[in-house]
Amino acid sequence: MTNLGVYEEKIKDFSWEISERELGYKQGDNINIGEYCTDRICRMGKKDKLALIWEGHGGDIKKYTFDDMRMLTNSIARFFKELGLKGGDRICLFMDKIPELYFGFLGILKMGGIAQPLFSAFGSESLLTRLEDAGTRAVMTQKRHLPKVRNIVKDLPGLEFIIVVDDDASKPLREKEISFSMENIEKIDQFDIFPSKAETPSVLHYTSGTTGKPKGAQHVHYSLISQYITAKYVLDLKDDDIYWCTADPGWVTGTSYGIIGPWANGITQCVLDSGFKAESWYKFAEKHKVTVWYSAPTAIRALMKEGIDVVKKHDLSSLRHLCSVGEPLNAEAVIWSEEAFGRPFHDTYWQTETGSIVISNYPDMKVKPGSMGKPFPGIEATVVDLNTHLPIERTGTVGLIALKPGWPAMFRTYWNNEEIYKSKFKNGWYICGDRASIDEDGYYWFVGRDDDVINTGGHLVGPFEIESALLEHEAVAESAVVGKPDPVNMEVVKAFIALKPGFTASKDMNLNIMNFVRKRLSPLAMPQEIEFVDSLPKTRSGKIMRRVLRAKEWGEEIGDTSTLENDEG
Ligand code: WT7
Repeated sequence: MTNLGVYEEKIKDFSWEISERELGYKQGDNINIGEYCTDRICRMGKKDKLALIWEGHGGDIKKYTFDDMRMLTNSIARFFKELGLKGGDRICLFMDKIPELYFGFLGILKMGGIAQPLFSAFGSESLLTRLEDAGTRAVMTQKRHLPKVRNIVKDLPGLEFIIVVDDDASKPLREKEISFSMENIEKIDQFDIFPSKAETPSVLHYTSGTTGKPKGAQHVHYSLISQYITAKYVLDLKDDDIYWCTADPGWVTGTSYGIIGPWANGITQCVLDSGFKAESWYKFAEKHKVTVWYSAPTAIRALMKEGIDVVKKHDLSSLRHLCSVGEPLNAEAVIWSEEAFGRPFHDTYWQTETGSIVISNYPDMKVKPGSMGKPFPGIEATVVDLNTHLPIERTGTVGLIALKPGWPAMFRTYWNNEEIYKSKFKNGWYICGDRASIDEDGYYWFVGRDDDVINTGGHLVGPFEIESALLEHEAVAESAVVGKPDPVNMEVVKAFIALKPGFTASKDMNLNIMNFVRKRLSPLAMPQEIEFVDSLPKTRSGKIMRRVLRAKEWGEEIGDTSTLENDEG
């Protein structure tokens, strides 16, 4: 028996109150995600149940019960409070997937702070943009990432505390830097949890758009109501599950379903803090007897490349439910997973902004390989016309995915950017910015993004941020950045660059520019390919037309180029 049961039945009588009731929440009550994921689970008799099984890249293993997690998150919360941090302060987590990242996140929420997780592979410039925008007061980081913070601290007068979680006193710390050790800290039994209400800000996740700087999608504690019930119904999490979410909490999957959803359900999670390698992933799943696995198409395609033989060398019989998110999951990947693991990957669709799964394939529902499935009960979805933004009545017609606002986990604004937030709503619908069609059975089929944002391995990177970084390179006169098809990552970054007079294209120049971007932004944002050109296609008003360059990469029709200035091809 699955948690959701029969989808058609569930949608008839579903309301978010079901989730509120299960969580013992009533309108007007205090609601604190940190409390719900730790103290409440302990009160339900699961004190000694494992909350986290963590494995580092060296193979070392650490285990924590829900009671360990409850007390350690108290300790972290008190530590922040004693520094003088208070409710509403933005506290950034800039760490690898170590236990301190997970417990730091919940500790911040417990003292009322706004958790701002950032991907640890970000370079100084990516970090600076996001810390500056958020007005972040404290950063929790590791020694290995400290130099990147040191690079920018002079540009961030509002950044008061840099907390180093693994300082071994081998080198002296500098001003603002504070050493913190979770292993040596006193475990606190009692902590006065911040009395957050439904609309109290909780998490700030930065996401990239086509234009301008990355935007901070701001979430509130009430998001728990969606995250709890979707984790239960879509991931089908049950008391004896061992759940593995491969996503990094620098991205929303790693917080909504790598922290909040599963722990609010009192589920044991395991985390592997190392890069991708098929063999070690299978070993990990086998060793910890993983039952439910949430991953991404890029990882699945990378596993496919290694072949079925590697799968068969491991006993993966514990796996009972597989889900995927982040990019289109090709039909072949679904079919392959049936062959490899005896069960299909279930595609799920959502965004940083939606905070929780909104369209999905459910355990009891027939999977149509290649389709994203159907709206989650309680989510009203449709596709709207590309121009009028009115719902499209005819099945099979491509439009924009649109959602009726009001589900609990929906973002409440973009930090400091109410204007762009408002622009996402049309005719009373929240417009996701993706194109799709709906078939006669109500299944959604993803077509593509409606903007220039590049999706590389499930991670969105904004062309504007990369083009801005490129302009800082001494040799670059102008550039345009687009996604180029890639068999594993779906898209990789490709840059078209016109050099300044006096600079010539060469292999060295190529490498030099690539490294320049990698160091400043991140390995994800680094162009995998650079094409040097004399000039870039522009509109008559001088705007670079990425669309033309992108269409060429994808072998598509270029479409209307009547506004092109230099449209020779
Ligand atoms: C964008 C959101 C929330 C999970 C991580 C990504 C794309 C997401 C799917 C899917 C096709 C998908 C969309 C979406 N996307 N899931 N199942 N099939 N595309 O969060 O970084 O905010 O990215 O990822 O383009 O808008 P994100």
